[in-house]
Amino acid sequence: MIDILLISSSAERSTHIGARLEASGVAYRLRTVHGEARNLRAHAPAVKTADLLIVDDVDLTERELSGIEEALVQTPHLHCMLITPAPSTNLLMAAMRAGVRHVLSWPLDEREIVNALTHVSNKKNAGLRREGRMVSVSSCKGGSGTTLIAVNLAYTLAAQREKRVLLIDLNQQFADASLLVADKAPPATLADLCSQIDRLDAAFFEACVMHVHPNLDVLAGAGDPVKAAELRPAHLERMFALVREQYDAVIVDVGQSINPLAIHVLDHSDSICMVIRQNILYLHSGRRMLDIFKELGYSASKVRLIVNQYDKNARISLATLEETLGAKAAHQLPRDEKHANDALNHGIPIVTTAKGSALAQGIVLLAETLWPVVAAPRKGVLSRLFATRPNPLQQLKTEH
Ligand SMILES: Nc1ncnc2c1ncn2[C@@H]1O[C@H](COP(=O)(O)OP(=O)(O)OP(=O)(O)O)[C@@H](O)[C@H]1O
Ligand SMILES: [Mg+2]
Repeated sequence: MIDILLISSSAERSTHIGARLEASGVAYRLRTVHGEARNLRAHAPAVKTADLLIVDDVDLTERELSGIEEALVQTPHLHCMLITPAPSTNLLMAAMRAGVRHVLSWPLDEREIVNALTHVSNKKNAGLRREGRMVSVSSCKGGSGTTLIAVNLAYTLAAQREKRVLLIDLNQQFADASLLVADKAPPATLADLCSQIDRLDAAFFEACVMHVHPNLDVLAGAGDPVKAAELRPAHLERMFALVREQYDAVIVDVGQSINPLAIHVLDHSDSICMVIRQNILYLHSGRRMLDIFKELGYSASKVRLIVNQYDKNARISLATLEETLGAKAAHQLPRDEKHANDALNHGIPIVTTAKGSALAQGIVLLAETLWPVVAAPRKGVLSRLFATRPNPLQQLKTEH
């Protein structure tokens, strides 16, 4: 499935383009923003996660192409398609120099659209799969903060780290993760999706998730324990195979259950964040849970102990907690009732409503430990000095 971002200066034309894409038969996900090419920089986060940028602007001039060139340089896997009424030779040449491979004129030619989409799709399938790293957030007792942490972690990776993120709510009693990020009902739940698992493909999955941010989709939890009881590990197996190719990060709010479904998710996770609090009841169950994780064969580096609502003056100190659990705490998140409640009441993550708070910053740090920032290799002075622009005519030849 290719991820398309359409920036269009006309609502009428964007509808028409959408219909043409639909008729192409190529699997895609479309996000549309209204505006002109010169406003492209305002949509930089959405551009970064797209495979194909379609710019539909009747007034496009050579000057606006610099913004497009900048986007293409910054996002090496991005392809760009320009749709413009009657492109002059100068505009065509300038577009090619900027790295644009597909320039289409009005009225849109059906075959040209299909060719362009197939080209992008083939390039993507030829090796540009997403990272597909899965992290579970689980706990040994209710109310520990798994939902708050999973939601904010997902939001941080999507909004600040420009990852394509999927948040799955696996809670089987009363799922609520979607309430923390949106004030509307989800189009479908995990149970709805699994009940029609034979229909599962990229387009069906796309119709089931809630898009809460250009980079963040949420698959809501069952919400009904009776329906949740029908979920099977084999359903999840099929879904994971699909989503790991389409998202950089898959965050699962596992909640407090340890059952075959949860174990299946934990087995497939690259990391497990086990949330705990400084309270005797949490310590008692937490110890047992860590033993179960050991019996399941999870390595100590896979399981990360997160102390939530951390209070340095609490009767159970960090040292006592670690000694009782026989494990080091990987991370602490402070108690912050005001911001936690405000975020809950507004259905907006803390990492946006209270960005500067210690709790939000703690979550950003947690995201960094789970997804370390990889520094881009610095180019030497000589290679920068002698960097040459690709020859547009040569590129035209090799494309065909
Ligand atoms: N660090 C924190 N500081 C203050 N309040 C917090 C913090 N973390 C979570 N909370 C609050 O604790 C309550 C429980 O949090 P949350 O719903 O995330 O827990 P949970 O483990 O998902 O619970 P459940 O078992 O019901 O699914 C919520 O009201 C939340 O706002
Ligand atoms: Mg929860």
